[in-house]
Amino acid sequence: MSHAMKAVIPAAGLGTRFLPATKAMPKEMLPVVDKPAIQYVVEEATRAGIEDILIIIGRNKNNLSNHFDSVPELEQNLREKGDEERLAKVQQSNELADIHFVRQGEPKGLGHAVLRARAHVGDASFAVMLGDDLIDERDGLLAEMIAQHERRGATVIALMEVDPEAIHLYGAAAVEPTDEPDVVRVTGLVEKPASEDAPSNLAIIGRYVLTPEVFDILERTEPGKGGEIQLTDALQELAADSAGPGVYGVIFRGRRYDTGDRLDYIKAIVQLAVDREDLGPELRPWIKDFAANL
Ligand code: UTP
Repeated sequence: MSHAMKAVIPAAGLGTRFLPATKAMPKEMLPVVDKPAIQYVVEEATRAGIEDILIIIGRNKNNLSNHFDSVPELEQNLREKGDEERLAKVQQSNELADIHFVRQGEPKGLGHAVLRARAHVGDASFAVMLGDDLIDERDGLLAEMIAQHERRGATVIALMEVDPEAIHLYGAAAVEPTDEPDVVRVTGLVEKPASEDAPSNLAIIGRYVLTPEVFDILERTEPGKGGEIQLTDALQELAADSAGPGVYGVIFRGRRYDTGDRLDYIKAIVQLAVDREDLGPELRPWIKDFAANL
């Protein structure tokens, strides 16, 4: 599977929930087992057939761009030692896709970060994938979103049922059913609502397939919640436009890890590591023993 759709990965947030680790390093570079979070996201994009990726970078940009570049002295060292296995690991991230970078300048919000992709994306639909939001590779999501986009010609967002008490941490969607299970029409969106004001417990998670109309809307979107230019506010405008193709949601019921949150980050590492052939066999009994003594 291969198509011309480009992906945009915003990675220019301040990552304040993860300070001090994110003082000199973007949170998207935090290792999840042995790969930075963002590499999982790039791999997910390539599995969905995307070959061109634009990463929106902020301060500490060098960390990120170096990771997707070659490191001749390290590669030479491993080659001389005959360590082909580690050499392949080092080279893997430079060979994944055609990766580009653009700076956000100031972190004025996710909507503002997405707008920075306009020149690179042009007049075409594109995917947005948050670099700290991991979708387990065993549970496909993006390919289904792209298929829905192609069928309906509309913006498609990913939704996940969350505990109503937690909806204030997300954008929330008001929805209507469609003729397909787990595909809904989005009638309204609100960023980080109080739980009593939330239209549902369907939370927006970090995968989007957007049409280029979103750029014009983002150009005039005023700062919203938290003083930031919110992508959710621009999508609400598309959802409310009865003349347009509207916004659809794919409800995701698989495994998702929010590595920008400390507790979820720890859980992600444990969940991914226990399933790994190289680590799981030793880790699983250790966890059982550890838990038994808690
Ligand atoms: P978050 O709200 O999770 O990121 O943004 P944050 O602001 O870095 O996190 P905390 O709350 O301070 O810990 C969601 C995504 O949007 C990107 C972030 O990098 C993250 O992938 N983002 C956010 C930008 O690229 N630019 C921004 O101005 C804001």
